[in-house]
Amino acid sequence: MPTSTVAVVTGASRGLGEALAEQLLVSGASVISLARSQNARLAEVAAQTGAHLEQLSVDLSETSSIESAAGLMSAALPAGASRYLLINNAGTVDPVSLAEGLFDAKSIERAFNLNVVAVMVVTAAFLRSAPKSADRRIVNISSGAGRKPTAGWPVYCATKAALDHYTRVLAVENPGLRVASLAPGVVDTAMQERIRSSDRHQFPELDRFLQLHEQGQLASPQSVASRILHHVASDRYGQEILDDIRNHDIPT
Ligand SMILES: NC(=O)c1ccc[n+]([C@@H]2O[C@H](COP(=O)([O-])OP(=O)(O)OC[C@H]3O[C@@H](n4cnc5c(N)ncnc54)[C@H](OP(=O)(O)O)[C@@H]3O)[C@@H](O)[C@H]2O)c1
Repeated sequence: MPTSTVAVVTGASRGLGEALAEQLLVSGASVISLARSQNARLAEVAAQTGAHLEQLSVDLSETSSIESAAGLMSAALPAGASRYLLINNAGTVDPVSLAEGLFDAKSIERAFNLNVVAVMVVTAAFLRSAPKSADRRIVNISSGAGRKPTAGWPVYCATKAALDHYTRVLAVENPGLRVASLAPGVVDTAMQERIRSSDRHQFPELDRFLQLHEQGQLASPQSVASRILHHVASDRYGQEILDDIRNHDIPT
């Protein structure tokens, strides 16, 4: 990353977002993280490397708090960097349920808020606040589920499909912006633990995920984060709008 990179990472308190934020800090980028909880390890890395870190405690699943979160992010954005990077990473797989069981409108709303609405509002604030003269890049962390219908994940699949198509619109509207919707593969995080704890009747593909785990086929958040950051920094970034990080080389 260029020395003067400002990166905004949602969902940086754990999992893939934490690994992304840590590697950005180590590369010297200023990082603004948005999540409900703060991460003490990231604060330590920032202290050790001298990189600037601001951890904003925000709930991106409630409509009422998304706008203020976006405002806090804009206010915290340092001026004068040569690159501004937004990684919309926070997400949830809940509610896990067959379509016929989806009666809880609030849980559906919270998932759409986090996986889609917050992405749109935080992105709008970023586009307004990050200087147009800088190199601006956006990564939307999607999922294979947005491209392949999966029983038990009607909400998750619909939110990620919405995210993919939204990303296409962003690209059409902003020719100078480098943006992509990236599926990260199967990553060893709390989200995978949640998936493995699913009720088999509500999630018929449970055994496939149990097997992937048993066979050690989950990628580490660190390896996926380093692939993502390597790709995002390259000149190829943004040429493919709907992409999968597994299509890109492992950094050497
Ligand atoms: N893991 C996989 O195999 C996999 C596969 C495909 C796609 N993905 C995608 O990758 C992204 C990261 O997933 P992960 O596996 O790292 O998940 P994770 O371990 O569950 O982490 C999710 C992150 O999102 C944040 N978050 C959750 N609810 C939030 C809320 N209401 N407001 C603000 N932040 C919230 C969490 O922070 P707090 O709890 O502190 O708020 C956490 O930092 C997601 O978009 C997911 O859909 C993951």
